[in-house]
Amino acid sequence: MIRLDSFVVKGGKRLAGAVRVSGSKNAALPCLFATLLTDHEVVLDNVPDLQDIRTAVRLLERLGKRVTVRLGRVTVCKKGVLKERAPYDLVRRMRASAVVMGPLLARLGKADVSLPGGCAIGARPINFHLKAFESMGVKISVQEGYILAQGRLKGCRVKLPFASVGATENILMAASLAQGRTVLDNAAREPEITDLARLLTAMGARIHGAGTARIVIEGVKTLAGAHHRVIPDRIEAGTLLIAAAMTRGKVKLTDIDPSHLGAVIEALRRAGLNVSHSSNTLEAAWVRSLKPVSIKTRVYPGFPTDMQAQWMALMAVTPGRSVIQEDIFENRFLHAQELVRMGARIDVRGARAVIEGVPRLSGCPLMVSDLRAGAALVLAGLVARGQTRVLRVYHLDRGYERLEKKLRFLGANMRRVPQ
Ligand code: UD1
Repeated sequence: MIRLDSFVVKGGKRLAGAVRVSGSKNAALPCLFATLLTDHEVVLDNVPDLQDIRTAVRLLERLGKRVTVRLGRVTVCKKGVLKERAPYDLVRRMRASAVVMGPLLARLGKADVSLPGGCAIGARPINFHLKAFESMGVKISVQEGYILAQGRLKGCRVKLPFASVGATENILMAASLAQGRTVLDNAAREPEITDLARLLTAMGARIHGAGTARIVIEGVKTLAGAHHRVIPDRIEAGTLLIAAAMTRGKVKLTDIDPSHLGAVIEALRRAGLNVSHSSNTLEAAWVRSLKPVSIKTRVYPGFPTDMQAQWMALMAVTPGRSVIQEDIFENRFLHAQELVRMGARIDVRGARAVIEGVPRLSGCPLMVSDLRAGAALVLAGLVARGQTRVLRVYHLDRGYERLEKKLRFLGANMRRVPQ
């Protein structure tokens, strides 16, 4: 059941202090699904406690796994016979569930996965995943809302039309147990892909080139168990850096890999924020008024689309003109109209948003449409005059671990109102 909690944020507090960044949701999800590739025990550490992770755990249990979750450690082992059906009631809650298809095909030679359905930030089809499986010898059909995939996977050359993160993950997992060699071109290069490849390699997969546009996978017959630590969440880290910038604060983040945040750090520095780092910490300090900086969302290592909404919140209160070009998703400006209700000046035309920064926003009730839009509205609330009530925070609970607790710890005046 969805809880309709809201956040009440009173703006005007400067954030200061140090917080630990959680494990990455987007890395943990494919790692959880990779456990389907073996009957042996896989232990994952640094898994965040989030709604999407709970959905993934339920899906694994339905597919025949026993899962134990304790303090960031998830242990997955065999329970019964592996099943091929990923049902609608779980897949519709989380589109990333489509990534079970590769492992199920690899283990069972068949998969029966519900079509994910619509999504607030765009159509988000999975045609690239399916086309790749077809070229690996799989027959695909759609029946009663389910994708039926059947066939023995054979390695081949696959070139993705776009460097899709989910398609790259699905193909990596399928190819690990396919017959022969798969050469994947135009692969996604996100750190989450490299993390998944690290886990698969620890399980015995033969993968070369993860993190580059060409990944070569030599299929093996079986995979073993492994112990793996999930990478830190670069999007949570970026969101907290922007919170520091907007509130004129000074925030230190620990347990983070700064190399994953290159484009975000560069944009923040260009805006005038002081950002320094060690090998696993990042520190942001506001020292002068910020300047507007235009960005375009790109695949990694470009500016991440998952930071676009938060960047818009920052630019909304940075005097001057900036432009945001969203080139990854076609309908990812739903937060703009909510920011306008707070007094922001934003003009959206197609994939382009022009922002005239204003000195101050004013608090009002706001509706969250998706995960990162929700983060942008909370950020705006932190600097708005008066009180901002952010409704439907279940979207935020899908992807931010204890966000309100972390922000409160840094000094924000914010609380959750349960419903
Ligand atoms: C993942 C992330 C998401 C992030 C996105 C882009 C997870 C769980 N989610 O989503 O947070 O915003 O990467 O960095 O890791 N596309 C197609 N056909 C396909 C596949 C994708 O047209 O078969 C399009 C999508 O509609 C979108 C673009 O390609 O416009 C990028 O999608 P993709 O990289 O696949 O994103 P996800 O893996 O869904």
